[in-house]
Amino acid sequence: MTLRELRHRARKVLGPIPYDYVAGGAGEERVLADNEKAFDRYALLPRVLSGSETRDTAVDLPGARQAAPVLVAPTAFHRLVHRDGERATARAAAAEGAVLVTGTAATTAVLDVVAAAREAAPRPPVWFQLYLHPRGEVTRALVWRAEDAGCTALVVTVDSPVFGRHTRDLRNGFTDLPPGFAAENMRGLPGAGPDALTPIPMSPAVRWPDLAEAVRGTSLPVLVKGVLHPDDAKLAVEHGAAGVIVSNHGGRQCDAVPAAVDCLPAVTEAVAGRVPVLLDGGVRRGSDVAVALALGASAVGVGRPVVWGLAAEGETGVRRVLATLRDEYDHTLALCGGRRNADLTADMVVRNGGAG
Ligand code: FNR
Repeated sequence: MTLRELRHRARKVLGPIPYDYVAGGAGEERVLADNEKAFDRYALLPRVLSGSETRDTAVDLPGARQAAPVLVAPTAFHRLVHRDGERATARAAAAEGAVLVTGTAATTAVLDVVAAAREAAPRPPVWFQLYLHPRGEVTRALVWRAEDAGCTALVVTVDSPVFGRHTRDLRNGFTDLPPGFAAENMRGLPGAGPDALTPIPMSPAVRWPDLAEAVRGTSLPVLVKGVLHPDDAKLAVEHGAAGVIVSNHGGRQCDAVPAAVDCLPAVTEAVAGRVPVLLDGGVRRGSDVAVALALGASAVGVGRPVVWGLAAEGETGVRRVLATLRDEYDHTLALCGGRRNADLTADMVVRNGGAG
């Protein structure tokens, strides 16, 4: 089964409102569609007679060594799609040796997410995603919850000064979580209330010094997620980021930005190897992972496919998604004559329909 087929299976088990919440994007969903289509515009140019029987696909990331260059991007409210929610996702990611990025909008408290991951692996890499708040004490409270739970890195999402306009949710009148669901990490903190669909304080008043303060206030590495402009990638590194994640939030924020993968080469060049560059948005096949790595990413995140796996088959489904991508990627690496991730280089990617 391909990851695209999994979406159809998830659609059958989910009600239309949660399905739309996950599947949808902002505005006319132009960026949502382009994230996937963009990968079709790239082709791989394999090298021959340079491979080996076994390949090493492991990757070292801040606060994590992963079996493959694929991690679980932060997506909200897993209990909305499966009764086991984030606990199932956490066990699956840990069993597959992949980083799980849980976050502020999880329907399971971070302490319980890390505990579930530890049922599957002794030292599972769990990262915590948050938004910066102009009131530093709100940010510090969230950071403290993540540190206390045993997270090994933080992900600060910077592409959301305001919440995106999600057309399908607006049409469906989906503004609050159903009774019994809450953003557990927001309990006791200022915001719209843990059962609001946007329980997370986001603010356009947040600026670079707030990032620097957050970096100073924790001993954990801080990755900055949602960077598209190369100059912002440079600023992120200058303000202490341990990694930069090229992302347009899966097409859920500004509906006029480029596909995420199209922003990768310029960001890679700007960062110049100082910190790892990661990418998410539209990754659906192992060959997409290979293209992203060849264009300079150290690893990629997957958002919706993980949620489809969770909805369709719970923990097993999430494991299937991660294992499928890892196997497809390893196969692609073999077909391209590579032995390790670094063997995929920019000269091995061409624009589809012609070299260069
Ligand atoms: C997201 N994403 C997201 N990002 C983030 O930083 N904090 C969050 O709470 C969420 N929540 C969220 C919910 C849902 C339902 C989706 C689909 C996405 C964005 C996510 O981390 C990632 O950037 C995209 O999902 C990547 O694109 P793909 O893999 O879904 O195409």
